[in-house]
Amino acid sequence: MKIKPFKLERYYTLHEHTAKYSLCNSDCEAMTIADLLSLEKGAKEAFDNTWLGYTHTQGSPELRNDISTIYSKIKPDYLTVCTGAQEPIFLFSHAVLDSEDEVIVQTPCYQSLQSVPESIGCKVLNWNVHYEGNTPCFDIGALKKLISNKTKVIYLNAPHNPTGFLFTKDEQKAIIELARINNIIIFCDEVYRELEHKSSFAIPAFADAYENGVSVGVMSKAYGLPGLRIGWLAARNQEIIEKIAILKEYTTICNAGPSEFLAGVALRNRHTILDKNLKIIQNNLPLYDAFFAKYADLFSWYKPNAGPIAFVKMHFDTDDMIFAEQALKEKGILILPGGIYDFNGYFRIGFGRRKIPEALEQFEAFVLENLVAK
Ligand SMILES: Cc1ncc(COP(=O)(O)O)c(C=O)c1O
Repeated sequence: MKIKPFKLERYYTLHEHTAKYSLCNSDCEAMTIADLLSLEKGAKEAFDNTWLGYTHTQGSPELRNDISTIYSKIKPDYLTVCTGAQEPIFLFSHAVLDSEDEVIVQTPCYQSLQSVPESIGCKVLNWNVHYEGNTPCFDIGALKKLISNKTKVIYLNAPHNPTGFLFTKDEQKAIIELARINNIIIFCDEVYRELEHKSSFAIPAFADAYENGVSVGVMSKAYGLPGLRIGWLAARNQEIIEKIAILKEYTTICNAGPSEFLAGVALRNRHTILDKNLKIIQNNLPLYDAFFAKYADLFSWYKPNAGPIAFVKMHFDTDDMIFAEQALKEKGILILPGGIYDFNGYFRIGFGRRKIPEALEQFEAFVLENLVAK
C-alpha cells in the first residue's frame, strides 16, 4: 500500500509535546485515571481486578452496551470497538472499497478520510466548503453534481474538522435522501458529536438516521480521553461489521482491556464529563470573541455551534505555514496552519483545554510584536 504522509499527524508528532503553548488542540481537557475512577462507586477496585487476557475482537459486550446508549437505533451488535477513530476509518475504507469505486469527501478534511480511499486507488471527488462571509457552507446542489453511478461512499465529518461547521437537521435529511436514491453508503466521522454548544444544535448520528449510514465515535475528543485509544464504528449493515472484524484481525486483533474498562466508566458518566468540557469551552469562547473583535482587521472567524475547534481567516499577506512556524519559533505557540489541510490563508484554533487563556495571551503578544507594531 502506498499512502501519502498524514500532514496533520506529522505536524503533531513533531510539535505537540515540545511546544510551550498550544492554541489548536482538537481534544478536550483530559483527566487522570484516578479522577475518572472516582466518578463511579466501586470502579477503582474493579479496575484493579481487570483481567489482562485477550479481549473480544468486536469489543467487550459490556462496553458495546455502554456505547449503544449514545444512539437510538444502534444495538451492541451493530458496533465494533477499535483503536481510536483512525483505525475504523482505515478498516472501513479497506473493507468496503475497491479501486474502481468513486467516493466523495467533504473537504478540507481530516486527511485519512481522503488519503485512505486514494491509496486504495479510488477516484476521490471533493465536496468543498465555500464561505458566505465568515460562515462555512456546503452546498447540497454541488454534492448532487458529484454523484455518479460509481459513487460508493460519501465521507462526511460532523461536526467538521477544521471549519467547526455542523449540518442542520434539514441538510442532514437532504444528504441522506440523495444517498438513499443513489444507493450510497454515508460514512460520517462524528468524533466531535455530543459537544454541541446548545442541545438544539444536535443532529442524529448518521448510523441512526440512515439505514446505510456508518458513524464513527471515539473517547478522544468530546470526552477528552485520547490516551485510552478507544473508538468505534456503528453500522446497521451487518455485512460491514463482519468485513471489518475480518480485517481487524490483521491490525490490532482486539483492544486493550484496561482501556475498554475505563471507557465504560467514562461513558456511564459521560454527562458529568461533557458538562465539565462544555464549561471549559464556554469559558474560552468569550476570550476568542474579544480577541477577534479587537483584531478584526487581521483575523475573522466562524464561531462554531459545536465542537472544540474553529478555523480562522487571516487578512494579511503572509503564508499560513510561515506564520505558524514563526509563532512556534518566537513564542513556542502551536497553531495549526491551513496548509496542513491544503487550505491556505487560515489556521485552526482549539478551545477545549484549560490553558487556552494563557496561550491566547502569548499569541496576542506575538501578534502585537509582529503584525501590529509593523
Ligand atoms: C475528524 C477526526 N477524525 C479522526 C481523528 C482521529 O482520532 P483518534 O486520535 O482518536 O484516532 C481525529 C483526530 O484529530 C479527527 O479530528
